[in-house]
Amino acid sequence: MTLILGIESTCDETAAAIVEDGVRVRSSVIATQFELHAHYRGVVPEIASRAHIENILPVIEESLAKSGVTLADVDAVAVAHRPGLIGSLLIGVTAAKTLAWSLGKPLIGVDHVHAHLYSVMLGEGARGEGQGARSAEAESASTLIPRPSPLFPAIGLVCSGGHTALYRVEDWTRVSLIGKTIDDAVGEAYDKVSAILGLGYPGGPIIDALAEQGDPKSIRFPRSTLGKESLNFSFSGLKTSVLYHVRGHQGKERLPEALSAQDRANVAASFQAACIDVLIDKIGKAIRQYGAKSVIVGGGVSANRGLRAALSRVRVPGFVPPFAYCTDNAAMIAGLGHVLLESGVQTNLALDAVTMSAIR
Ligand code: KG4
Ligand code: ZN
Repeated sequence: MTLILGIESTCDETAAAIVEDGVRVRSSVIATQFELHAHYRGVVPEIASRAHIENILPVIEESLAKSGVTLADVDAVAVAHRPGLIGSLLIGVTAAKTLAWSLGKPLIGVDHVHAHLYSVMLGEGARGEGQGARSAEAESASTLIPRPSPLFPAIGLVCSGGHTALYRVEDWTRVSLIGKTIDDAVGEAYDKVSAILGLGYPGGPIIDALAEQGDPKSIRFPRSTLGKESLNFSFSGLKTSVLYHVRGHQGKERLPEALSAQDRANVAASFQAACIDVLIDKIGKAIRQYGAKSVIVGGGVSANRGLRAALSRVRVPGFVPPFAYCTDNAAMIAGLGHVLLESGVQTNLALDAVTMSAIR
């Protein structure tokens, strides 16, 4: 049995997890900062780094306590060292290096986006499915049913607040970028549409719930394809179209409150339908172009119920993470860390925090 301590601090979640043999989540603790950033409707880097400093040691300690594992039992320390906000990354990387050095254990640098794909392998958390993606407090998940592995080659889609990109996944260690957004990430569009409607942050779960009460065919928002065979995405036109629909055109502006509750639900449902149509269309194209045998979807937007249901429109089997591991977490870092360790990848103490993903 191999136990990996995973550490995640790339953006606004401070997280630590203990994962057994790369798939069984013994503990997954997340200190989210969204209340600190809600007022600004986006992550403020300086506030994020300060909160990581305060949270990192308590979160690591809690992940050990909840899993019943001591530092002496840990076989290696894995840390998300890219991509992300540099001040945020540095806190996790420094904590991981210090632990690995003082314990004399291997250190493994993990790419956060790569780990979002791997999250489909994580065992169902005891408080995972059905809980929603994010809890305000630290979250624990600890049982132990591993999930089936996707068939390779697979197409991977990472859709989150910071990323929307398609990957060809040869196996868990060989991943290459085949398409990405040329402007907004889809999660960012969800957050902005929520703001346009005068609703809260983060917008994804709010729009997801509201969409259930609306008619997805009521408004025909644009679906940007960027050309017949393109695997790139664009969501800024869709966002602007929602803005004009809700707020009106110049000279005739109105407040979101001018819309009835049903109108707002219709906007949410129609916006969501446009996002999902584009994501599913691009996944389908990528499958055809690369002869993929399965599709893997990870990142915060993979918690979206509409998107999860729409994967049945794809002609190969779809794999999504348990709800608890869709948004940022450290279990996915520890899990992929295990795979990398097994394949002989090890990092030395010169490991750097890097803002860009390694997969380009
Ligand atoms: O993966 P994540 O925690 O952070 C990044 O790496 O960016 O993703 C956060 C994003 C936010 O934009 C949030 O609004 C979106 O994921 N999100 C959702 C849902 N839950 C979270 N979007 C659509 N539907 C959801 N249910
Ligand atoms: Zn993420």
